[in-house]
Amino acid sequence: MSAHSDASLWQVPAWLDVSTREALWQAAFHARQRAYAPYSNFLVGAALLDEDGRLHAGCNVENAAYPQGVCAEAGAISAMALAGGRRIRALLVLGDAPSWVTPCGGCRQKIREFALPDTPILIADSQGWRATLTMEQLLPHSFGPQHLLP
Ligand code: THU
Repeated sequence: MSAHSDASLWQVPAWLDVSTREALWQAAFHARQRAYAPYSNFLVGAALLDEDGRLHAGCNVENAAYPQGVCAEAGAISAMALAGGRRIRALLVLGDAPSWVTPCGGCRQKIREFALPDTPILIADSQGWRATLTMEQLLPHSFGPQHLLP
């Protein structure tokens, strides 16, 4: 079975209702419109739901010194931290490409800091929601805060 026909890719936890998914998509869609990506022309938006049910969004912000650019997911995480959020309950990333725009490797680690293994990561484009993966699927056997606890 190919990844695109796997029914599990459409499963979301019961608490993540349609209206919350729609709100995540809308927040990411609008954030993407603010992306600053003059070098790649690849616009990305991200939105996350925190432990208090608040949404935080981000867009990619590139830089003439290319490695200094930041991803949309990183911006959303910064917005969450500034608002006092410390848990990612769900995250949606939105970009238009021939195949799914999933968080880059670095962002998987950044998301993982505030997520749990079963935290849903929704993959979307400007037409809608495409798939859902879990944190554990995106970053298995990961290193995290608990490794540093005494
Ligand atoms: N990018 C993101 O913002 N998030 C992703 O999940 C994938 C990649 C950005 C980084 C860069 O500005 C552009 O997309 C092309 O890689």
